Amino acid sequence: MKNKNSLPYFFSFILLMGITSSCYSQTSTDNKELDERVQQFLDENRRQWRDLNIPYEDGKVLFDLIVSNNYQSALEIGTSTGHSTVWIAWALSKTGGKVITLEIDEKRQKEAIINIQKLGLSAYVDFRLGDAHQMVKELKGPFDFVFSDADKNWYVQYFKDIHPKLKKGGRFTAHNVLMYSGGIRDFMEYINNHPEYQTSVDRSSSSGISISWKK
Ligand SMILES: C[S@@+](CC[C@H](N)C(=O)[O-])C[C@H]1O[C@@H](n2cnc3c(N)ncnc32)[C@H](O)[C@@H]1O
Repeated sequence: MKNKNSLPYFFSFILLMGITSSCYSQTSTDNKELDERVQQFLDENRRQWRDLNIPYEDGKVLFDLIVSNNYQSALEIGTSTGHSTVWIAWALSKTGGKVITLEIDEKRQKEAIINIQKLGLSAYVDFRLGDAHQMVKELKGPFDFVFSDADKNWYVQYFKDIHPKLKKGGRFTAHNVLMYSGGIRDFMEYINNHPEYQTSVDRSSSSGISISWKK
């Protein structure tokens, strides 16, 4: 150090480097622990879900969509005991986002809250209890990712209520679209003919997930 005036700058630089690298290593260690904990939970419970929960493969589809598109403001309709919520929250832990998840059944919601808490994912989930028919209309948004998995005969109405609150480039996804039901048929017809959306169907499981990208 030739110039003694540069000493304070030198030490500030060293201090800053120390803080930055310690923050970084803390974050990556935390993420590694979280990843291992969540992955283990998902693997162990893969065949244990009993409350109309999505299959593992479909959870992975939701996870990949969120992470690869860096989605941050998510909405889930139909929490149940939280299998899809775990996948969505885990993805949002990577993008720094949050999901609002709606459920009408208090007992199921309680179980979902416990699952999310024990995994350390609570910061990424906002649980709401009540009738999604009303709650969806009242939500402000905007959202960039929506997963619809509650009452199928209301799918079209959920979509209509969410459409103005979905960002361009965002995705509206819906579960069980390979199921035979009047509600699903009407929804698929509606979404396939909507000029502002491009829709495909993921068949990772026999349930099927429609994925509608807002142009
Ligand atoms: C297919 S399950 C959701 C499964 C969940 N996504 C998972 O993978 O773990 C559908 C859930 O939607 C809830 N539900 C049905 N109608 C609803 C409504 N009008 N408002 C809120 N929740 C509703 C049901 O109680 C049920 O728990």
